[in-house]
Amino acid sequence: MSLTVNEIRSKFLNFMKEKGHVIVPSASLVPENDPTTLFTGSGMQPMLQYLLGQPHPLGTRIADSQKSFRSKDIEEVGDNRHTTFFEMLGNWSFGDYFKEEQITWMWEFLIDELKLDPQHFYVSCFIGKENLGVPRDTFSAELWQKLFSSKGIVAKISENPESGMNDGEKIFYFEEKKNWWSRSGVPANMPAGEPGGPDSEMFYDFDPMMEKKMHSISKYTNVPCHVNCDCGRFMEIGNNVFMQYKKTANGFEELPQMNVDFGGGVERIAAAVNNDSDMFNIDVFDEPKKTIERLSGKKYGESESVTYAYRVSLDHLRAATFLIGDGVMPGNKDQMYFVRRLIRRAVRFARNLGVKENFTKEVAVSFIETYRQEYNNLEEKKDNILIEIDREESKFRKTLENGIRQFEKLSHGNISGIDAFDLLQSYGFPIELTEELAKERNIEIDRSSFDEEKKKHSEESRTASAGKFKGGLGGDGEMEVKYHTATHLLHEALRQVLGDHVLQKGSNITPERLRFDFSHGEKMTDEQKARVEKIVNDVIAQNLPVTREEVSHAEARARGAIGVFDTKYGDTVSIYTVGETGTRGKEKMFSMEFCGGPHVISTGVLAVGGNHPDDSSQMDNHPDDNNQMDKRKVKFKIIKEEAVSAGVRRIKAVLE
Ligand code: SER
Repeated sequence: MSLTVNEIRSKFLNFMKEKGHVIVPSASLVPENDPTTLFTGSGMQPMLQYLLGQPHPLGTRIADSQKSFRSKDIEEVGDNRHTTFFEMLGNWSFGDYFKEEQITWMWEFLIDELKLDPQHFYVSCFIGKENLGVPRDTFSAELWQKLFSSKGIVAKISENPESGMNDGEKIFYFEEKKNWWSRSGVPANMPAGEPGGPDSEMFYDFDPMMEKKMHSISKYTNVPCHVNCDCGRFMEIGNNVFMQYKKTANGFEELPQMNVDFGGGVERIAAAVNNDSDMFNIDVFDEPKKTIERLSGKKYGESESVTYAYRVSLDHLRAATFLIGDGVMPGNKDQMYFVRRLIRRAVRFARNLGVKENFTKEVAVSFIETYRQEYNNLEEKKDNILIEIDREESKFRKTLENGIRQFEKLSHGNISGIDAFDLLQSYGFPIELTEELAKERNIEIDRSSFDEEKKKHSEESRTASAGKFKGGLGGDGEMEVKYHTATHLLHEALRQVLGDHVLQKGSNITPERLRFDFSHGEKMTDEQKARVEKIVNDVIAQNLPVTREEVSHAEARARGAIGVFDTKYGDTVSIYTVGETGTRGKEKMFSMEFCGGPHVISTGVLAVGGNHPDDSSQMDNHPDDNNQMDKRKVKFKIIKEEAVSAGVRRIKAVLE
């Protein structure tokens, strides 16, 4: 059977809908209100608060297909399976069903519905660890065994997979390095407050009869092959995480509820359905491949180096297209730096294919065409995406020219590490290109002294930015929560000062500041800014309660809640009111918004602490103590007001 990515995605979502799940749209690749990470890298990230116990407004069974980007994989791209961008199919139980349903459904979906051959199918389970207090997952292993046997397969369980696979073994116990999932990896690396749990992973075997001899390439011949081996024979196609624990200062405690967090890359599942171990052969790459083929005259697959360069260009330009679509422009800072890097690497590798003229725009057009139905923001932002990607490419091509010119000046003899580093640092000229040019001219580069220079430099810049991410996960999130509430206050204050046309267009919070994008056509005057600040500071001084309510979508609208909660399917939503609850217009109500939270318990909390170097305030210190407030004198202050695009303004503000 051969299925397209679009077909697999919709089969999965329909399947989960039939099992009682509410299907939600993908969140942005740029996480909102999560300063701990630059990108959404898995389906569970936007679900974090619900896994920790906050009720999801749409219920206890949720499924989606989440756009994901993993920047750490940039340099892994080039083999048959790694990509930076992917779509993760996901389903969640927030304290609803658990292992039995999840595992049975996965079997139904993959084996019965997608018709994967169970002979090619393998799974792994957690072996258990006494010092973690987490037992062996015999339940999952035995359930898998029953499911295999329903197809007449006697599936043996192995406890020692890393020593090699024996005939009939289908189910493998691994330790936490392989069968534990949290955002920060193994239990030892998890910070306090972080949720995680044992998992059961599913694998597809591309070479069950060992005919393709994938494991026989020299790198692997001396190590036994098993499902987690990297030789290419097996591919993980999905992961069922049983999110049941939370890390604390003294080990693990059970979360208030037993959750399921399933994630599986749709591209990998497509590769399995097609029984082709090269993920770059799935349909979403067909059109973009043709474009590169037309421009380069080289065919995908004609040689190893051609295939490698194709994969890097395809992956990187798909990622850049989606990232720009989600508002991340190429640049030097934070997320923007990655978009720049992706485009530049794509150009560099395509250059190896002989593409010497601007081409990224055309490849982006093919990706937009391929994905526009599922992600209509790509179509809406098409012009913008094409302009940005093309502009960055032109800039980089200039950099290349300048770098080559500078290289010529240096290349009378061998090139020192410092000169090579200067080419990178001052001209943005990548070391790989310096090496390439050196090779053509038969001169040497002192690579080890270049590496040393680079290391020295990155250590310096790491020290410089060490302070930047001090906020961090669980327990330390007080400032973000305060800024989240401050955002609601700002939103309402802007509406009072500028008018009801003001609506939230975006929000981003770090422990140091809030950033708020809103619809408004003109630059704000100083007087308007001062009025907004005064309104917010007055509400903070009044210490109004912040109340969360769960109501039907219709009721929330009828009562006049504002906000961008776009529920296509859901009925119940959560709203946060600052001041007296009720219907908008009530005298003592300040604002009412659709929102998932979390928020402080009352606005006075914002007056305590602020971004002070020795901030030791706790959220639950109720700030009734006026002395304390006077002493700290926290003020809400707008530090910047600027345009982001036509009709959209951006405010950065602090509690200082
Ligand atoms: N959180 C798990 C993963 O990313 C499953 O969704 O693999």
